[in-house]
Amino acid sequence: MQIQHYEAVCQTQALPLLVRGWHELLTADLTDGTIIIGWDHKAIVAFSDAGMPIGALSWIDQEWGNQLFIPLAYVLPEHRRQGVYTAMWNVLVAKAVELKRPVIASGTSIRNTACRATMAKLGRIERGIYTRFDVPLP
Ligand SMILES: CC(C)(COP(=O)(O)OP(=O)(O)OC[C@H]1O[C@@H](n2cnc3c(N)ncnc32)[C@H](O)[C@@H]1OP(=O)(O)O)[C@@H](O)C(=O)NCCC(=O)NCCS
Repeated sequence: MQIQHYEAVCQTQALPLLVRGWHELLTADLTDGTIIIGWDHKAIVAFSDAGMPIGALSWIDQEWGNQLFIPLAYVLPEHRRQGVYTAMWNVLVAKAVELKRPVIASGTSIRNTACRATMAKLGRIERGIYTRFDVPLP
């Protein structure tokens, strides 16, 4: 596996993977209608030994919060449970060290058990619950 870092997701191998991941999450009702791919998001992409892009992780340097934030990550289904996400995460942790940011934050649906299990395995601590109220508009 090879890992590549991009300063922006546009015109990179990250974008189609992230779009596919967003579609998968929307279809499975594991994310709401908010935008989770942005023009200014940076990206880490994992490539198979054959040179195919198999996973992507987007991130933002939130200077105002002194932290990095992960809007979205995705690994192709046939490449899961092989350490692809973990490899991208390790590159992000190295970025946080380089940028001297003491925290990496992210969110996910409470029902996304695979993502929550992955975060837990990597030592990431669940700290809050996001609520949503559907306003009864006429
Ligand atoms: C969540 C996701 C990114 C994990 O990617 P991955 O490359 O399979 O993760 P890894 O192989 O690095 O897994 C690391 C560890 O996390 C845990 N883990 C990962 N997927 C798991 C699952 N489905 N069930 C239970 N534990 C899991 C395991 O402990 C795993 O180690 P192990 O395989 O040695 O047991 C992937 O399942 C995915 O793309 N899901 C759809 C999109 C998504 O939910 N994105 C995150 C929300 S933004």
